[in-house]
Amino acid sequence: MRILVTGGAGFIGSHVAAAYIEAGHTVFVLDNLSTGNIRNVPPEADLVEGDITDRTLLAALFAEQRFDVVSHHAAQMNIRVSVADPVLDARVNIMGTLELLRQSVAIGVRKFMFSSTGGAVYGEQIKFPADEEHPTNPVSPYGVSKLAGEKYIHYYGREYGLPHFIMRYANVYGPRQNPLGEAGVVAIFSSLLIKGKQVTINGDGRQTRDYIYVADVVAANLAGLATESNMTINVGTGVETDVVTLYEHLRQAGGSDLSPRHGPAKPGEQSRSVISPRRAKELLGWEPRIELEEGLRRTYQSFA
Ligand SMILES: NC(=O)c1ccc[n+]([C@@H]2O[C@H](COP(=O)([O-])OP(=O)(O)OC[C@H]3O[C@@H](n4cnc5c(N)ncnc54)[C@H](O)[C@@H]3O)[C@@H](O)[C@H]2O)c1
Repeated sequence: MRILVTGGAGFIGSHVAAAYIEAGHTVFVLDNLSTGNIRNVPPEADLVEGDITDRTLLAALFAEQRFDVVSHHAAQMNIRVSVADPVLDARVNIMGTLELLRQSVAIGVRKFMFSSTGGAVYGEQIKFPADEEHPTNPVSPYGVSKLAGEKYIHYYGREYGLPHFIMRYANVYGPRQNPLGEAGVVAIFSSLLIKGKQVTINGDGRQTRDYIYVADVVAANLAGLATESNMTINVGTGVETDVVTLYEHLRQAGGSDLSPRHGPAKPGEQSRSVISPRRAKELLGWEPRIELEEGLRRTYQSFA
């Protein structure tokens, strides 16, 4: 198949693009290199340097390349930027997604795959772990804009019959991860430990997240490519890990004996986040395979 991976120079998109190529597909990457890096793009992929909000560029690209699948990973993914400039965030995450949806319908794309966020669309959870029916009350403009992307995809599905597959990722970590992303703490701690510097944990470090290794996220994307059904699934582990425990695993991976220091808590930070992988297992047979210790060890080594 001919697959367009937006954001394919970024962390997750580049791993997904490589897996599609490995599976024998023809891959095009569309990326403006704002947070991505040209070095991440698999050499077999065709890189188009450009912006997902550029209507003229998209119209020409889609008309010329007639993609079968759009795998949409490009985003403004920094929660703090979204708080500081919600308009910028909406421009990329809402308007950019809409532009891609319009072009996808225009050329009859067979599947639109979207990277949403379980960490941000549910907001402060009332059930642990959250399943896909959990209320969605995002507490950041980023969460709002990703949820809006999902809603527009449903609209295009209903009105134009666009097949779709929506993945709500937990906090994704792994080689090439961006320190500004939802699991940025893994990259930040690893880089400091490698330099032998002390890590500062915000607050008591008991805030929890659901950390999923990027190879498991790639496997979910491949499962999504293979299914004929429209669906929205969580891509997480169902396991809640606090920052203190995460630090401990990374410290051991690096063979360090440094203790962390505790700084002030970040105001407005979500206290707990964990999502259930049950639906993906039932519908697709997908489940996370890489244990946290193993994933963190591989990630730490990739930064070393
Ligand atoms: N990392 C996580 O923990 C996580 C969790 C949930 C959801 N997600 C989602 O997964 C996707 C990938 O995230 P990531 O962590 O790989 O981030 P990333 O920043 O590494 O990748 C995003 C890529 O999109 C590109 N990009 C940004 N704006 C663009 C634009 N306007 N036009 C074209 N390209 C643009 C960037 O240059 C970058 O290469 C995003 O949609 C993000 O919202 C990530």
